[in-house]
Amino acid sequence: MDKNDIIRKILQLKKEKDAVIVAHNYQVDDVQEIADMVGDSFALSKYCSSVDSQVIVFCGVHFMAESAKILSPHKTVLLPEADAGCPMADMVTAEALREEKRKYPNAAVVCYINSTAEVKAESDICCTSSNALKIVEAIDKKDIIFVPDQNLGSYIAKAVPDKNIILWKGFCVTHHRVKVSDVQKIKELHPDALLLIHPECRPELVDMADFVGSTKQIIDFAYKSEAEKFIIGTEMGVLYKLKKDNPDKMFYLMSPGLLCPNMKKTSLRSIYEALDKMQNKIELDEDIRLKAKKALDRMLEIG
Ligand code: 13P
Ligand code: SF4
Repeated sequence: MDKNDIIRKILQLKKEKDAVIVAHNYQVDDVQEIADMVGDSFALSKYCSSVDSQVIVFCGVHFMAESAKILSPHKTVLLPEADAGCPMADMVTAEALREEKRKYPNAAVVCYINSTAEVKAESDICCTSSNALKIVEAIDKKDIIFVPDQNLGSYIAKAVPDKNIILWKGFCVTHHRVKVSDVQKIKELHPDALLLIHPECRPELVDMADFVGSTKQIIDFAYKSEAEKFIIGTEMGVLYKLKKDNPDKMFYLMSPGLLCPNMKKTSLRSIYEALDKMQNKIELDEDIRLKAKKALDRMLEIG
């Protein structure tokens, strides 16, 4: 089957099975092109909590599809590539978090959505990179355990100095590997470009940014901005929409290392196979799901 045949089959299967295809901003161009909805973690969770279709094909990584299942238990959620995981999400376990909670019994627990259902179930509230500040500000406790991303946690701690943010040692392998020297090099090449950075980057990089935000916030900022050149400090998948929406603007990736191999696993073929065989369904323990849902619902209420 060539690419057009696969696309035709996917569209046919979507109708037959009452399915919707959602994709994260880091997915490969072909996948973003056929998706019904493309967005950041927050936009995708919101969409999946209200969509009518019976089947959700989640083109992203495991915690994202799992969040869709937590919010929509009666829907079938398929992750086209079963082993597309997020290494950061695996840097905290429910057991280790329980231990941390014992050390700080009065602290609230905020977990980044890049976490497992078991960790969400141990948390008071979830957040994404687009709303972390709002969520932390809405918590009435001073002490807050923030898992698992130390970089997003540090960014929040700086912005909300009256809170005591207890950081975890997790990080995104893709964003964390970029160094100040990489940014200096690209800034020398494009001195008049604005630097747009994801908060999963190291704090020294975030301090250099003209704008800090989620993937969607970066895309929206570049669209609205009157500037013409931008250095993009997040995974290269966002370049698809940035270039499509802004054909006259210039975008330079902050570092060639900004590639998430797990996000790149999903292809048109794996979407087709998942839908055809209805394979790679997300299944969850109901007790864990209900507890995790509370943390996600609280986040969706605040926004
Ligand atoms: P966004 O919510 O900004 O899309 O980020 C998700 C993610 O995994 C970033 O690495
Ligand atoms: Fe996880 Fe980083 Fe990939 Fe996002 S980019 S899915 S945080 S490994």
